Amino acid sequence: MSFLSQDKVERKVGLLIVLTVLAVSFGGLAEIVPLFFQKSTTQPIEGVKPYNALQLAGRDVFTREGCYNCHSQMIRPFRAETLRYGHYSVAGESVYDHPFQWGSKRTGPDLARVGGRYSDEWHRIHLNDPRAVVPQSIMPSYPWLNNNKVDAVVLQQHMKALTKVGVPYTEQDIADAPKLLENKTEMDAVVAYLQGLGLALKDK
Ligand code: HEC
Repeated sequence: MSFLSQDKVERKVGLLIVLTVLAVSFGGLAEIVPLFFQKSTTQPIEGVKPYNALQLAGRDVFTREGCYNCHSQMIRPFRAETLRYGHYSVAGESVYDHPFQWGSKRTGPDLARVGGRYSDEWHRIHLNDPRAVVPQSIMPSYPWLNNNKVDAVVLQQHMKALTKVGVPYTEQDIADAPKLLENKTEMDAVVAYLQGLGLALKDK
């Protein structure tokens, strides 16, 4: 293979770039492509269902308000993490999340398994004014969530769009959304979302 001797490759920058790109893409493909075919990364684990319309509305509030800037939703498989938060996160828990909210920035605690940890009432007081329940908290207050109503039409469109990327909402789920969202505020929605997080592996 004298025509590809290291000496030649290193002298010809163009060739070096082409070969580097080839090597890196091959490595990437070999690692990434199998993930599209593995059950553990493409199938929901038992107990994981698509968000209902109210939870989905809450998830929209979560992303709009940038809660992910301070909260991850991914428990790493280390003892210090699992002792604090519970079972480590697995890919099959977020197959219906588009986009997923894993993250790594933790100004506040991880929220992957916060569902059921507190009462709805606690969450409402906390979101209204975090310092009312955690005096030293630096989390911002979100009082306007009580005043904003959830828009059912937008949510139905959102659900329809999600079916295009594989979330199995039925026509019935979409038709029932306005009933579920009637008179609901963004506060109701975000609390419903938080209370549903991580339940599938909660006590495992
Ligand atoms: C500036 C960073 C920051 C932002 C933005 C933020 N939080 Fe927090 N959050 C914190 C901190 C710090 C704590 C820990 C103190 C406390 O409980 O208030 C916390 C605690 C929490 C808890 C309690 C978690 C537990 O296990 O005790 C929940 C639930 C929560 N936040 C939800 C939210 C939601 C929902 C949003 C967006 C609407 C949000 N946070 C935005 C910093 C933030």
